[in-house]
Amino acid sequence: MQQQQNPNHQVHPWELVESGFHPEDYGLNATLFSLGNGFIGLRGAFEEGFGPEPFADGCYLNGVFASEPIRYGESAYGYAKNNQRMLTVPNGKSIRLWIDGERFSLAEGELLDFERRLDMAAGILHRKLRWRSPNGKTMELHSRRLVSLTDRHLYLVHYQLTPLDFEGEVRLVSVLDAGLAQAEKSDDPRLASPIDSADIQLQESLADGEQLALVQEVLSSGFSVGSGALHKIEFDGDCAREYSQDVDRVSVEYRLDARRGQAIRLTKYVAHFAEQRAGSIGTTRLRDYLKDCSNKGFEDYAVLQRRELESFWNQADVEVRGNDALQQGMRFNLFHLFQSLGRDGRTNIAAKGLSGDGYEGHYFWDTEIYILPFFLYTQPQLARGLLEYRHSILDAARARARELAVKKGALFPWRTIGGEECSAYYPAGTAQFHINADIAYAVRHYCRASGDTDFLRDKGAEIVIEGARLWLEIGHFNPRRDNRFCISEVTGPDEYTALVDNNFYTNLMARAHLDYACEVHEWLRANAPETAAELAQRIQLDEEEPGAWRRAADAMYLPEDKGLGIHPQDDGFLDKPQWDFAGTPADHYPLLLHYHPLVIYRHQVCKQADVILGLFLQSSEFTLEQKRRDFDFYEPRTTHDSTLSACIHSIIASEVGYPDKALDYFQQVARMDLDNHHNNTQHGIHTACMGGTWLCLAQGFAGMRLHGEELSFNPYVPDGLAGYRFRLQFRGRTLELDVDGEQTSYTLVSGEPITLRHCDEILWLSEPGQSLAIDRAPARELAV
Ligand code: BGC
Repeated sequence: MQQQQNPNHQVHPWELVESGFHPEDYGLNATLFSLGNGFIGLRGAFEEGFGPEPFADGCYLNGVFASEPIRYGESAYGYAKNNQRMLTVPNGKSIRLWIDGERFSLAEGELLDFERRLDMAAGILHRKLRWRSPNGKTMELHSRRLVSLTDRHLYLVHYQLTPLDFEGEVRLVSVLDAGLAQAEKSDDPRLASPIDSADIQLQESLADGEQLALVQEVLSSGFSVGSGALHKIEFDGDCAREYSQDVDRVSVEYRLDARRGQAIRLTKYVAHFAEQRAGSIGTTRLRDYLKDCSNKGFEDYAVLQRRELESFWNQADVEVRGNDALQQGMRFNLFHLFQSLGRDGRTNIAAKGLSGDGYEGHYFWDTEIYILPFFLYTQPQLARGLLEYRHSILDAARARARELAVKKGALFPWRTIGGEECSAYYPAGTAQFHINADIAYAVRHYCRASGDTDFLRDKGAEIVIEGARLWLEIGHFNPRRDNRFCISEVTGPDEYTALVDNNFYTNLMARAHLDYACEVHEWLRANAPETAAELAQRIQLDEEEPGAWRRAADAMYLPEDKGLGIHPQDDGFLDKPQWDFAGTPADHYPLLLHYHPLVIYRHQVCKQADVILGLFLQSSEFTLEQKRRDFDFYEPRTTHDSTLSACIHSIIASEVGYPDKALDYFQQVARMDLDNHHNNTQHGIHTACMGGTWLCLAQGFAGMRLHGEELSFNPYVPDGLAGYRFRLQFRGRTLELDVDGEQTSYTLVSGEPITLRHCDEILWLSEPGQSLAIDRAPARELAV
């Protein structure tokens, strides 16, 4: 299936280029050209704005939110009480421009030339244009923007205009604007709700001495948010300044007598700070910080930015040969993941990163299952931060468990920012208890691939053990099923089936979780007895509990249908009628926007990978034949209405010998946002799918699996690609894989000797710099 590529963008290995302005794509491009550094996220809207689209602009701070009560028409005990909504902070990039009395706007006049370019090696967004005003004055504009990867509170705008054929007054008004952009009201559950502006109170403002600042207090969540800007203007001539302060905006106006051919340059340093403590941020802090930053110019920051990205790409780059569009998609996705990732152990990666307020900026299981592996195998210290975040919200998860009558342990929120459960629709939210097992899976994966036992001792063990206690509380040994351990009334990953008994994925992952909890408990007692004793006392862990975990794991019930030779998704799935795909018009997808949930729930139809995700994550427990039968059964029943689906299908297709399908899915995944396949990228990128791009390649095409502490590979190159190359961090080593149609080569770039498995062969790399080349990967045909 050849996907339609966005015709308005050029294919380039390191850049995203829009040549010619496409107003109809303004919102979409504001997402694609967004910049971020894990704390600040800045949409790619123009400095001077364009059009009224409410979702076009925005600046967000990771982890900073407003809280609002969830209003239910009909409520019930234990429903999530509050929503946390990622805050839109003042727009600091705003610049208004008048040339000789005419306001510059792309909605008017004549655009003679336009190019917007995101350079992913440099971390800079460029916009170059030539514009003729309605009165016939022509100017050239080059704006550059970077969100600093080295100073998390800072971003810079460099705005340069040159009059080409006129002399006269130029007015540049630089604004710090707290006017809230209101989200649309919509029935789409994936969008953000409108903000209550009374919740945000202005505490202090400043406009003076080249500086602007606004300090706000978010009453509902207690955040103090400070935003400031410092300016440097470069112009050979007189320049008058005028400052103004309004209720929700401060500005400085520069008036200059412009001359033909003479450039005017404005550098705007913008800073944001936030703390969840009333009154903690003041204008002095902003002022001092910005003053400090202004010792360096834009070019200095550009050098630092490139250096930071060089080190990122050195570890994380994936070369995809033989298809430039896929190469671009891969790099674009990895770049955005890096921009989205909270790096302080207190913040995470939202489903839309920091590129838009879709899903209200919430964090989901997307992190642990889809995104974390990329960081784990390229920058493990960043993966650790994601898990530290889970540790930081354990108290909230314990409190939530009590609300659900779970007496011991913790239940992690399905969606949240600060830790409180925010899912207003529990059948597709809180009921996804599998999140506990997903997080434990990620802890195990992280600890095994990094060898970081300190983390396991200090934080990981508590996450795993507290999470595991849930299963004994919500499951039971069922006498009607031979005393097997059953778990009722849960929702698995597939959100087109809800509140079912014995969801295959949930039971499978719970079993692995319980096994691991036993292992971790023993390990802790043997290796850190004092920590084990302190933890047991603090969480009141009963001596008998680990034995109960073992019994539950050993007796775990997994649905099977002997006749069909497949795993039913849950106890009732096979009794339902099939969805009428032939009678469903193409414009009725995603189904969730066209059918009541009950219509969907009573059919055999999947939104996303569920059983086959389990087969991937617990790969060694199933044979290839089994995986193929399940794939053959579920694939035709799956709409892939979630962007989390296609990557898992690609990986299993690779494994079971469907290389063409694997490539088809990979093509969708790699360019999901670039080509706006789900038609909602204007509300933000899809970070899980971006992480899935890396998974498709490393775990799909290269067939990488981790068994215990051994890495194994089963690489091939699908027709349509010429090869690929990527690096891995593994237990302190750097490895490189290069796969083409002829051979696979493994290099130990640095670190201790290592044993690897290539298909059925054991490889031994004994010193840094050593490479082993193995001839042509076997054809992907499944021998059954
Ligand atoms: C998917 C969930 C996912 C969420 C956020 C939903 O459409 O069904 O699995 O966690 O999006 O990405």
